[in-house]
Amino acid sequence: MENNNRIMSGMRPTGKLHIGHYLGVIDNWVKLQYKYESYFFVADWHALTTKYNKTENLRQDSIDVVTDWLACGLDPKKSTIYMQSLVPETAELHIYLSMITPQHWVEKDPTLKDIVKIVKSGDGSTEGITYGLLGYPVLMSADILLFNAQYVPVGIDQVAHVEITRDIARRFNSIYGKEVFNEPKPLLNDCSYICGVDGNKMGKSYNNDIKISDTEEATTKRIMQAITDRSRIRRDDLGHTDQCEVAFKYWQIFGNEEDITEIKHGCETGTMGCADCKRKLAQKVNSRLQEIRETRKYYEEHPKIVKDIILSGSEKARKTARETLDKVREAVKIY
Ligand code: TRP
Repeated sequence: MENNNRIMSGMRPTGKLHIGHYLGVIDNWVKLQYKYESYFFVADWHALTTKYNKTENLRQDSIDVVTDWLACGLDPKKSTIYMQSLVPETAELHIYLSMITPQHWVEKDPTLKDIVKIVKSGDGSTEGITYGLLGYPVLMSADILLFNAQYVPVGIDQVAHVEITRDIARRFNSIYGKEVFNEPKPLLNDCSYICGVDGNKMGKSYNNDIKISDTEEATTKRIMQAITDRSRIRRDDLGHTDQCEVAFKYWQIFGNEEDITEIKHGCETGTMGCADCKRKLAQKVNSRLQEIRETRKYYEEHPKIVKDIILSGSEKARKTARETLDKVREAVKIY
């Protein structure tokens, strides 16, 4: 089949990204870009599905996301990096797909149900559950099908959306009697899940995250807050790495085998205290992030370069998108 080497994925513009995004998603994209024709985009329209009335930081948040991607190693020579709203073909495809998507498909989308819960939780009012929010999975399907991507590298939380996309692709082909779309598959990575320093899901709203853009000092401070083995009160108490809630888990992600053996030994023989362990851990994390942070600084100081990457990526994406839309219009028999 044509384009059988294409992937596409995106993120909502949530602002500066944290190491959970890096380890869970971006690092994987960076590797994949050498193997596949790759499209990565900022889903700024998706941001409006819940934050239509809080757009003051939307532009800067979108730029920050791309800056973090570039810092982590997405290469604009390898990948097409674009802004959803700068590829308006997305909106056109969304219209066609919205016409054929049964209402109950979007209503039972589990990821959407979670979002609806969050939107409602403020005062229980349903005012914020808009027509556009219900269309979230359809818009996402438009993003994916616009490029006829074979694979969509996403986190596990997005898999249900990719499933709907497959259903919509199949339905479109069967209604119009043409194989316009292939059925994209989620591409899950084997990356490690990293929790926040308090042991909960890492997120900026929980104030437990380590940002790609944080300074070394801020990172060290955060890591010093990491939860350890709660039963270990004094330094010479024997520790239990299997009961260490956060610090040792971080070691398993950031350390090599030798580090892990050393830490385990120090902890379990009571010869290394939690504070020392975390100080070392902070050094480890900082050294892993050093190059990324330097690259980030460069792009931060050259915002024009970031902007140009987005503009030229969006132009390039439009060309591919146009080809798909021509086929769609032909299939639908729209004038
Ligand atoms: N829903 C995704 C998220 O919240 C963002 C997204 C929108 C996306 N469209 C997409 C991801 C298309 C992959 C492909 O992270």
